Amino acid sequence: MLEKIKETAAFLKERMHTSPETAIILGTGLGNLANEITEKYEIKYQDIPNFPVSTVEGHSGKLIFGKLGNKDIMAMQGRFHYYEGYSMKEVTFPVRVMKELGIKTLFVSNASGGMNDAFEIGDLMIIRDHINFFPEHPLRGKNLYGDRFPDMSEAYSKDLIKKALDIAKEKGIKVQQGVYLGTQGPTFETPSEYKMFHILGADAVGMSTVPEVIVANHAGIKCFGISIITDLGVEGKIVEVSHEEVQKAADAAQPKMTTIMRELINRA
Ligand code: HPA
Repeated sequence: MLEKIKETAAFLKERMHTSPETAIILGTGLGNLANEITEKYEIKYQDIPNFPVSTVEGHSGKLIFGKLGNKDIMAMQGRFHYYEGYSMKEVTFPVRVMKELGIKTLFVSNASGGMNDAFEIGDLMIIRDHINFFPEHPLRGKNLYGDRFPDMSEAYSKDLIKKALDIAKEKGIKVQQGVYLGTQGPTFETPSEYKMFHILGADAVGMSTVPEVIVANHAGIKCFGISIITDLGVEGKIVEVSHEEVQKAADAAQPKMTTIMRELINRA
């Protein structure tokens, strides 16, 4: 595994013309940020040795190296979800490569179902913490580097959260804050499951992010995440959900998300 990570990193190092310390996983709601990257060098996942290939609709897979504002960045357009059939090792492989490339800070976005009564569809939720509800742990098995029993007391950087809150205030963007619970999907939750997750302490539930953030923390990479609340898992407000509706709500919230992330990456 370590050999594969090093092989992939060496392949990328030979081709990239920058040494970014900032990485972005362009999840739901951040697609347009890719258009703001300048001096781009792009490489498709299928052309990168050992990289899994993304399959889900709306997630075209490539790495983009370039500049965003004043920062050299590495962006993942398209992520790997556990529900697609990838193992946790595959889901988190790109983050391990990021560490090898010298990434220090990781920004992620996603879509989720809101379970907090105060949330509305289209809200942005700054992720303060997460609950790992995936059935397989990404760090299970041989410990490749870092601590065998990694600390997770600040999985999401408090400093970046504070900066993001300041930015939201300055720009007049309403943001929520809360706990994101990551679960395998691909089903959306039953009303009873939403209720259970809320009782467990989560404000939003989705099918990504947690594996990548765990592996990033293990690798000493600081993390920041925002979730778009695309549907509600609040008793009395639950209606049928579809991927299309999730996408529609996410697209509508995209400009707010892009503004915060762009500015935060500049100030980070
Ligand atoms: N549940 C799980 N994942 C999601 C949801 C949800 O309600 N909305 C968007 N992604």
